[in-house]
Amino acid sequence: MLKLLIVYYSQTGNTEKMARAIEEGAKSVVGIDVDVKYFVRPEELAEADAIIFGMPTYYHDIGMDMKNLLEGASKEEINLKGKVGAAFGSYGWSGEAPNMLLEIMKNRFQMDVMEPALRIKYNPDKNGLEECRKLGKTVAEKILKTSLT
Ligand SMILES: Cc1cc2nc3c(=O)[nH]c(=O)nc-3n(C[C@H](O)[C@H](O)[C@H](O)COP(=O)(O)O)c2cc1C
Repeated sequence: MLKLLIVYYSQTGNTEKMARAIEEGAKSVVGIDVDVKYFVRPEELAEADAIIFGMPTYYHDIGMDMKNLLEGASKEEINLKGKVGAAFGSYGWSGEAPNMLLEIMKNRFQMDVMEPALRIKYNPDKNGLEECRKLGKTVAEKILKTSLT
């Protein structure tokens, strides 16, 4: 079964709501095993066919846990090349974190990223949650399509 992994962090729940809606959208595609996690070991990234990273922006930056994960994956030479990737996150005013994630996914890990990152101000509303569902569905459909060709 194809694996889609959603790894996210959230302090006040906004990015978590996005993660759950992305999960819902991905699960609407038959044939995909969707996992949502808060903490993963770098090796777990290699087991996924697609990875969607979620990170809220605090102090114009991505959080330490995510940095440690990416640094660990880099040091351990985890091969993510060509895997489908996307990034998302809630923010307040500047929202750098999801773009920083995409940049690392693309340039360090040579993932096949979907751009732009999905960024939503504070608490996602009905439309925002729909955008999240769409992202999950699109990524799931993409790996399904790739597996059939
Ligand atoms: C101490 C603090 C620092 C923040 N720094 C930023 C920032 O640099 N840029 C930004 O866009 N939002 C910033 N925010 C806003 C958060 O990104 C926003 O509240 C977001 O919805 C939090 O997502 P979460 O609920 O998933 O933790 C900050 C919020 C707090 C409390």
